[in-house]
Amino acid sequence: MEKPRNLPKVNDKPRAVLFDAYGTLFDVYSVGLLAEQLFPGHGQAISVLWRDKQIEYTRLVTTSNHGAHYQPFWELTRAALTYAIKKIAVHAYSTRADGQFDQWNGQIEQLMNQYHHLSAFPENKEVLAALKAKGIATGILSNGDPAMLAVAVKSAGLDDLLDHVISVDPIRKYKTHPDAYALGEKACGLPASKIAFVSCNSWDALAATWYGYQTLWVNRTGAPFEELGTQPTRTGTSLRDVLSFF
Ligand code: LAC
Repeated sequence: MEKPRNLPKVNDKPRAVLFDAYGTLFDVYSVGLLAEQLFPGHGQAISVLWRDKQIEYTRLVTTSNHGAHYQPFWELTRAALTYAIKKIAVHAYSTRADGQFDQWNGQIEQLMNQYHHLSAFPENKEVLAALKAKGIATGILSNGDPAMLAVAVKSAGLDDLLDHVISVDPIRKYKTHPDAYALGEKACGLPASKIAFVSCNSWDALAATWYGYQTLWVNRTGAPFEELGTQPTRTGTSLRDVLSFF
């Protein structure tokens, strides 16, 4: 049975909104398109494995050996891409994973460069502007390291619309560690129950709900939510749905 912890009241309007970054504010779709151009017929498989491995690595370094193996998100992202290409290329191109891997270095650089300059979802600016007009504080709470986030925020032209850009990097623990979610409370000076946390990642929306945030899961793809007995406060299909909190 689920044990409610600091569950926010339904009519308790949030005073700040924090967004996840990758897949939520920044569209990672273009990376899949490029992967398909570089590895025809395998782009989808590479991008899915890349994303899954990236998240798996964040959990591996957060839960193992008291964080001794922490690496910034950019490094984990590169490691995950290398793994995904090795795994797929071994089958697709009969490449030996241990031997002829250098031939893919150019593709890895191109994909990492694409990841560095992701576009924002088109509704972002209007939603952030609408929140600011209501006097709601806005921010990002992300696994991304500060340098990656700074480039992404600037490329997307969101600098003036965000009060906080919070990276987990200073504490060297990734979401879903509670210390990572605590950074949002600290930056906003509010308890999680007064903050809405928005993510496209169901695991992130779930863990933020467990932590005590009001949550919006943005389900752009019609996916099922996690099957662990807790639902997000709200579910929507675009970032615009965050306005339904107010
Ligand atoms: C982030 C990843 C998890 O921005 O999307 O934190």
